Amino acid sequence: MRYINHAISIPLDFFHMTKPSNAPSAQEQFDESTSRRIEAIYLTPDIVAQRNTVLALLAPQQAERALDIGCGPGMTTQALAQAVGSNGSVVGVDIAEPMLAIARQRCGASPQATFALADVTALPYPDASFDIALATQVYEYVEDIDMALAELARVVRPGGRVLLVDTDWESAVWASSDNARMRRVLDTWNEHIPHPQLPRELKRRLEQAGFNSVQVEIVPILNLAYDPQTYSIGMMDVIGSFASGRNGLTAQDISAWKADARAMGERDAYFFSLNRYVFVAQR
Ligand SMILES: C[S@@+](CC[C@H](N)C(=O)[O-])C[C@H]1O[C@@H](n2cnc3c(N)ncnc32)[C@H](O)[C@@H]1O
Repeated sequence: MRYINHAISIPLDFFHMTKPSNAPSAQEQFDESTSRRIEAIYLTPDIVAQRNTVLALLAPQQAERALDIGCGPGMTTQALAQAVGSNGSVVGVDIAEPMLAIARQRCGASPQATFALADVTALPYPDASFDIALATQVYEYVEDIDMALAELARVVRPGGRVLLVDTDWESAVWASSDNARMRRVLDTWNEHIPHPQLPRELKRRLEQAGFNSVQVEIVPILNLAYDPQTYSIGMMDVIGSFASGRNGLTAQDISAWKADARAMGERDAYFFSLNRYVFVAQR
């Protein structure tokens, strides 16, 4: 009887956090071609502005030891290297080798920036190795969030600062002349990560992992024209490649979805907005 009670008392969260999703792994998603696409999107004015806002919220200081978790193509690592200066250091870690190759090349002129192939759930650093750590658009890809947050809490020194950015695509407003098709594409896109709604629970999970003074901010992305140099138009290729062939969406459906966005632009009716959720906390 005691055994049965014990079994029933396992919190539902336990199943939520360990249940494997059907999302492809980060290594599968970030091959060489997608990594280059992401690099181009992250150089658009939309994401340059987002990066500036995010870095201002983290406020890196000269001589600090920084960790860029899931550094991707390394633009944030490069900015952190500049901010901490030659007396500081920044380590970029990522699980996808093609991303690390781009990041290493980008930061070649900054000896204070180094890189390592590592999983966020097993960071190869001693306790309290860093003064600051940041992960932008990374934790939503990680199956075991609590393990990742425990690692974050372990490697950042007490009193250090952390910043996380994640997206909930339910916050997207994307005008279309075929709302049902837009819904199908976005619902399918939600399947590319194990935690498409992570921002809704991240404050609580950070607090449970031992972080305090958790502040939550929104950084919106707003595109009012069909312009290839914007985040949303850049993302159409990435989203389209993922959605094509899934949930009954054909290559023709995706072509029609893209053509509709172009046509919306020609009618001066293009509209896209999306929220990034930024969490700043103290260890
Ligand atoms: C959308 S990109 C964001 C890149 C970068 N943080 C930025 O904002 O410029 C997500 C990155 O997280 C990395 N990633 C995902 N899961 C990871 C894991 N378990 N461990 C380490 N890196 C991971 C991916 O390989 C990819 O480079």
